[in-house]
This record gives sequence, C-alpha cells and structure tokens, in this order.
Amino acid sequence: MSSGVRWLVVEVRAPSAALTAALAEGLVASGGSAVEEVDGALRTWLPDPVAGGGGEEALEATPRAPADAPPAVGQRLAEVSAALAAAVREAAGALGGESGGESGGESGGESGGESGGESGGESGGESGGESGGESGGESGGQAVGRTGGDPPIGEPAIWTLRWWWQPEEDWGRSWRRGLGARRVGAVVVAPTWVEAPLVAGEVLVRIDPKMAFGTGEHPTTRGTLRLLQRAAPADAAVLDVGAGSAVLAIAAASLGAAAVLAVEADDDAIDNAVENVALNGVADRVEVEHARVDAAWLAARRGSGWDVILANVLSTVLVPLLAAFRAALAPGGRLVLSGILATEAAAVQRAATAADLVLHVADVEGEWWSGLFRAAGASGELAGQGGQGGA
Ligand SMILES: C[S@@+](CC[C@H](N)C(=O)[O-])C[C@H]1O[C@@H](n2cnc3c(N)ncnc32)[C@H](O)[C@@H]1O
Repeated sequence: MSSGVRWLVVEVRAPSAALTAALAEGLVASGGSAVEEVDGALRTWLPDPVAGGGGEEALEATPRAPADAPPAVGQRLAEVSAALAAAVREAAGALGGESGGESGGESGGESGGESGGESGGESGGESGGESGGESGGESGGQAVGRTGGDPPIGEPAIWTLRWWWQPEEDWGRSWRRGLGARRVGAVVVAPTWVEAPLVAGEVLVRIDPKMAFGTGEHPTTRGTLRLLQRAAPADAAVLDVGAGSAVLAIAAASLGAAAVLAVEADDDAIDNAVENVALNGVADRVEVEHARVDAAWLAARRGSGWDVILANVLSTVLVPLLAAFRAALAPGGRLVLSGILATEAAAVQRAATAADLVLHVADVEGEWWSGLFRAAGASGELAGQGGQGGA
C-alpha cells in the first residue's frame, strides 16, 4: 500500500542543448529535488503542493484532465515557469545576449486537450492533458514557456513543460534504481539507504537527497569529483562554490583536505548541505556558508589564497568570475570548473586564458565538459589518474 504521499513530477524539454543548463538551474531554483536528465528532458520532483495531500485516490497513476487538477498545481507550475524564465534570462544576460525583457513561461491552461500516456514510475511516460492556450488554468499537463513576454501566435515556444503525479513508493523505487552508489575514482557517493561496501583506498560520501543538487547522478558532479582527485586535495584549503548538497566539499574533506568552505546561495539547498556535512562526520573540517559568491565575496574571503577552488555552476556564472577566481588562488592553486556544456568549452577556455589561467586536464562526460586549471606559470606535479571520463 502506498503511504498516501505523492510527488509532483515536472519535466521540461529544451529545444536546444544551449538552454539545458539554464533550465536545470531553473528547476532547482523552483525548489525541485535532484534534476535528472531522462531521454533528453530534464525532470525534477516537487513536494505535493495540494494542502492536506492527495489521499489514495490521488495516488492513482492515471493521467487526469487539467480541469480535474487542484488550483495549487497550476499555481506551482506557474512558479516553476517563472523560475525557468528567470534562469534563461539570467543566462542570456550573462552571455551578452538579449535579456528577453519580461518573462513568462506559461503554465496550466484552460484548454483540456487530450490526456494520456503513462505517468511517472519506471516508464517515465508522459501524463497529464495537454494544455496550450491561456495561462492561469488550474492544472498543467503540458505548458509552453517563453521568454520575452507573449510572442505572436505562431512564434516558436522556448521550452515545453509537463507534469504528473508520482506516488512516493514509485519515487523510492526510482531513487533506488537511479541513485545507487556511484563510484567516481576513489570517491563513492551513495544515498543514505544504499549499502556501499568500500575497497581499500576508497572514501564514502553519504548523501541524504533532498532539495539540493549533488547526488552524484549528474555528469557535472562526477566530472568535478574526477578532477578534484587530480587536484591533490590532501592538506589543502578548499573552496566549494555552489555547494548544493555539499557532495564535493565532503569528498574533499574525505580525501584529506585540511579545511573546506562550502558556499551555497540557495535557501533550501543550504540546510541539506549542513545535514550532509554532519551525516559524514566532517563538520570539524567543512564550514557551510549561505552566500552568493561574486567577485567582491571572493576578494573579501581570499585570505592567503585557496589551494583548490571547485565551482560546478553555470558557465554564465563562471566566466565573469574567472579573474576573481584566479586572484583567490594560493600560489600553485588549482581551479576546477564544471557546469559547462561541451559546446561552451572553447569559449570558457578563451576566457580562462585571458584571466591568466591554463588548462591542465579536461574531462568530458556526455555533453558536459569540466576543466582543471592552474595559474599561468605555476609549477609542480598534480595527482595521478582520477578515474574514468578524463579527456
Ligand atoms: C550544479 S549545482 C552543483 C552542486 C554540487 N556542487 C555538485 O557538484 O553536485 C550548482 C549550485 O550552485 C548554486 N549557485 C549558483 N550560483 C551560485 C553563486 N554565485 N554562489 C553560490 N552558490 C551558487 C546553486 O544554487 C546550486 O545549488
């Protein structure tokens, strides 16, 4: 029997890879749990927004017409769309493109359209009715998001949003299927309930997956973990920018870092970071700070410099910070950048070169690129192989 708890699954499909990172950021910003990429779409899970929950009837995995959905769902989808639009606007602005003016992913919609498909679970099928037309309806199904306000009829949509319910028991199965122990070189990342026997030399990072990015399921987390192991973290002072679940900070401490500062801007993620640090028994070496890192923050917190800086955030956040990262490195310091699409790698490398940084090792997994940089002119050896995936 189910527990009566259900999740609102929200899936967004970007029309181009260039928007994927921004939309993933938008899903996290809207309160989504870990973002998964499934068949080219990004999917996240939101707590049930309907007051009092759904009960047994609501757990039926049957797609429902939009008109049957409670108003809270339409409201939640509108919030998600706004977060997606903000993330896309921010990305466009940071890249120097058009900011798009007023945003507006639409969600919900009054037109019912056909409902169909499977819901959630292992099939990953689509559900919910399709709704185009006007926003503000009570329930989703399919919604169309745009930037730049409402374009004229016929103008292409920027992204497509869908939703369905997933009973918690399916969620649990899906976590267990999708969130097993992940071996990334000598680092094993595992959710709290998974047995993860270690072999000699391995370190375990336990994660209680909640409202923060960083379960080891995303290629950017794994790329950063691989390069962290190349960056010789033993005895180092490490800065983790955009800590999410604190997975990287905990891994750095477990690999022998002397002190780690994990900084996270998101209100929901920060609590999970603190929990995971405590769960792993590394609170004596990992400090968690709730802040948005920018050039002024980096200058103020530079001290004698960081031996290792880890930053798995969007390239649109990274690029403007490259000079400040360079200035915040200790002599011989290492900078690991991730959250970069392979298509963006050349531009990021050019910007890094202009900031006096030299690429030491690149790591590619799927469409994601990560780089380990050092200050130009730095000497000395780095660690040996850090696991699979390196380029
Ligand atoms: C892609 S997640 C990475 C999480 C984790 N470090 C990992 O590697 O799995 C990026 C995180 O950076 C946070 N973030 C984005 N920009 C930030 C900034 N300027 N300062 C601090 N945190 C930031 C986001 O809230 C998000 O939790």
